[in-house]
Amino acid sequence: MTETIPVPSDIAKNAHIDAETYQRMYKASVEDTEAFWRKEGERIDWITPYTRVKNTSFQSPNVYIRWYEDGTLNASANCIDRHLATRGDQTAIIWEPDAPTDEAKHITYRELHEKVCRFANVLKELGIGRGDRVVIYLPMIPEAAYAMLACARIGAVHSVVFAGFSPDSLANRINDCDAKLVITSDGAPRGGRTTNLKDNTNSALLHCKESVKCLVVRRTGQQVAWNAGQDYWLDALEATVDADCPPEEMGAEDPLFILYTSGSTGRPKGVVHTTGGYMVYAAMTHKLTFDYKDGEIYWCTADVGWVTGHTYIVYGPLANGAISLMFEGVPTYPDAGRFWAVCEKHKVATFYTAPTAIRALMGKGDEPVKAHDLSSLRILGTVGEPINPEAWRWYDEVVGAKRCPIVDTWWQTETGGHLITPLPGATPTKPGSATTPFFGIKPAVLDANTGEVLEGATEGVLVIADSWPGQMRTVWGDHQRFVETYFQHYKGYYFTGDGCRRDEDGYYWITGRVDDVLNVSGHRMGTAEIESTLVAHPAVSEAAVVGYPHDIKGQGIYCYVTLMSDKEPSEALRKELSDWVRSEIGPIAKPDLIQWAPGLPKTRSGKIMRRILRKIAEDDFGALGDTSTLADPAVVDDLIENRQNRK
Ligand code: WT7
Repeated sequence: MTETIPVPSDIAKNAHIDAETYQRMYKASVEDTEAFWRKEGERIDWITPYTRVKNTSFQSPNVYIRWYEDGTLNASANCIDRHLATRGDQTAIIWEPDAPTDEAKHITYRELHEKVCRFANVLKELGIGRGDRVVIYLPMIPEAAYAMLACARIGAVHSVVFAGFSPDSLANRINDCDAKLVITSDGAPRGGRTTNLKDNTNSALLHCKESVKCLVVRRTGQQVAWNAGQDYWLDALEATVDADCPPEEMGAEDPLFILYTSGSTGRPKGVVHTTGGYMVYAAMTHKLTFDYKDGEIYWCTADVGWVTGHTYIVYGPLANGAISLMFEGVPTYPDAGRFWAVCEKHKVATFYTAPTAIRALMGKGDEPVKAHDLSSLRILGTVGEPINPEAWRWYDEVVGAKRCPIVDTWWQTETGGHLITPLPGATPTKPGSATTPFFGIKPAVLDANTGEVLEGATEGVLVIADSWPGQMRTVWGDHQRFVETYFQHYKGYYFTGDGCRRDEDGYYWITGRVDDVLNVSGHRMGTAEIESTLVAHPAVSEAAVVGYPHDIKGQGIYCYVTLMSDKEPSEALRKELSDWVRSEIGPIAKPDLIQWAPGLPKTRSGKIMRRILRKIAEDDFGALGDTSTLADPAVVDDLIENRQNRK
């Protein structure tokens, strides 16, 4: 029996949405979806109001998704200009630097306006205009938000690349979207260490067109290698441009950004989000999921390199005129109390983080939490992977002192915003469950093999039956891949790639990916991507990568490697391969375990049987299932023996 935690009565009383409202509004939202979203579209400011609301089809091969398609707007004006009259002097962004001894910054909406306008004019000076792609490779500094909003202001399409990605990953993304410009900084301080971002960018640009320009933000003041004619300092150009830049009038379906994410096959794909529907969905979910109230300090600890940072640090909060905290550092620097010190210092009301961070901090005990005054906290959130009930309870009891509702928000890069989540004033919670669908969302559970719709309490794959405004529109440059990845497995449904259970109360429990995608510390990694990197190493003949349970990361990266016949396994080679993956993709892809595999278990048609590899990685040798279809069943015994001897 799982316990149900009721909504605290003081929260319910003052919430935007209470239980009764949720029921009524949810029903209306799925019964007359069009009317519902027609009204909700008014949350944001339009230049030309829309008359058409929804024009979507999930029927492959003819999949198209259009929302508010005849409306026009500007996303940056929605995040800035429309607040100037009412809250120009209110803080928009609080920036907390990596080192607690450095000074925090408070940027008002009026200052944000000037910063973004100047930045936008610099972009124009560099020849960037409507529809051009700009890659942003920056640490968590206010300029990252300015850069995104400046692109939005002039109609350029940004693609933020997480600063932890390698030069190779950066180059691939610049080339895939054919960016004209990359924005980076001299260095990126994080956890007391500095990454030389400009050096990384220089290495990346060796593999890109010579015409790609580089705009550099001064963060650390360190020396950088400079390419005259290609590189520009932001501060130098900013001083030469106008402090005002009128926002471009954009169509609702003009792309706002591209964000690369890993899938089960091939290279990361460019998820495309457009302007109108995304902004409506970002603003609405931010306001209702976090029950955001004017003047509250809201902190999402994600990095802007991920979709969470796009929707819930920049676009959602700023569209709502919120005070959004941006943190440059890490949870454990200078010590395990940093998150709580920041909450206390800035009187944070909403705190939104990932299960991996909660588990890591839980491991440091209660003391670092108890040492801080967390009475300003009102709402807690989690995102990125299923949260285990122990971590949920610790978050609830130790961090939230049992006063703060926890919103476990399930969503994806592709969904733009929350799809399944509690609402603080409306939804009783159950530790480990993302609970119930957001307005307008129609989840369904299907039998994985037959595709049959399963009713009531059940378990299967999670699909969504109809579109919502925040949904991705296409894969950049490859609409076919979009259709194949999301709409061909189960006809007429958006396939999430996740498995789930629905309980007797209609609550959803996400059980994790059912495809070959790993979730490592809340970051998505395609096994295919790591495998192709491993086999690109001269010593490697074949590789297979699976996930295995990891206490802190959720999943760890387990690599089975078959060496070229003239290579000998050694500790040195193991380290070399691990470093190779790290340098090729980025630190988040570094293997946790490499096991030498004399052979890999394959079917007679040559397909690697990952099911068996997963079981061996989990030390679950008794349940390997049927191995008789293997081309060479003996390889399994070798793998088990090597696993047991940790070879
Ligand atoms: C995958 C999406 C959306 C922002 C962060 C990750 C997993 C995400 C939850 C949650 C269980 C979750 C799913 C999903 N996931 N949130 N609350 N409970 N699982 O975005 O990199 O696109 O990854 O993360 O497996 O498919 P992403």
